[in-house]
Amino acid sequence: MAPKSITRATKLCLLLLVTMFIYSSAEVGQLKETNMTLYLQDRSAGPNATVVPVTGIPGRLWTFSSFGTMFCSDDPITVGFDKTSAQIGRVQGIFVTSALDGSSTHVSVSIVFTNATYNGSTIQIQGASRQFESVREVAVVGGTGIFRYARGYATFETIYLDTLISYAVIRCNVTVLYY
Ligand SMILES: *[C@@H]1O[C@H](CO)[C@@H](O)[C@H](O)[C@H]1NC(C)=O
Ligand SMILES: *[C@@H]1O[C@H](CO)[C@@H](O)[C@H](O)[C@H]1NC(C)=O
Ligand SMILES: *[C@@H]1O[C@H](CO)[C@@H](O)[C@H](O)[C@H]1NC(C)=O
Ligand SMILES: *[C@@H]1O[C@H](CO)[C@@H](O)[C@H](O)[C@H]1NC(C)=O
Ligand SMILES: *[C@@H]1O[C@H](CO)[C@@H](O)[C@H](O)[C@H]1NC(C)=O
Repeated sequence: MAPKSITRATKLCLLLLVTMFIYSSAEVGQLKETNMTLYLQDRSAGPNATVVPVTGIPGRLWTFSSFGTMFCSDDPITVGFDKTSAQIGRVQGIFVTSALDGSSTHVSVSIVFTNATYNGSTIQIQGASRQFESVREVAVVGGTGIFRYARGYATFETIYLDTLISYAVIRCNVTVLYY
């Protein structure tokens, strides 16, 4: 009698587990893919700088190509190339020159959206960026709000640079998967 009821109980347990699995996996929706092109208005000097070195190795110059230099950034994002086009958010975070020869920077920034479609949602970008290449690719490792569980990648290209006033426009293409 006992072994039989154990078998029955085991079967019931298994059935329950399978049902639970089906239910929990059914709650996860379809993966969506979105591509977007954003323009970062980047000023690295002057009274309105949006990228500022905050620390570095003592006794060395704190520059983009100097190992150990950490920058804090808060670049406005516009829908178009023109700095007067509509602002849809900001890229806020830090990056540190992480290659001894200065060729890479370790990026950890958030795209913080403020436009109607994505207001309050963020996308987290993190990883090594070969900062002097024309196209830099960095991973999208997460997100919040609409972009919860996000993953994907982002490319950065400096499409305009005026060294005299330390002003650059960086095009950022983001491909993101989320539920
Ligand atoms: C997003 O861009 C990638 C790469 O160019 C492309 O393969 C994909 O089809 C695009 N997805 C959408 C939804 O447009
Ligand atoms: C800095 O921003 C202020 C306020 O927007 C503006 O009046 C000023 O001209 C800017 N300065 C420079 C050097 O861009
Ligand atoms: C975005 O959200 C903030 C805070 O909830 C709100 O004050 C603002 O008006 C919203 N902006 C848009 C464009 O919806
Ligand atoms: C908000 O920004 C995203 C990313 O550029 C864009 O796809 C969307 O159309 C924008 N929405 C509005 C209302 O500007
Ligand atoms: C980024 O997107 C633009 C179109 O919005 C395209 O012209 C450009 O080639 C893309 N850059 C990369 C590195 O994919």
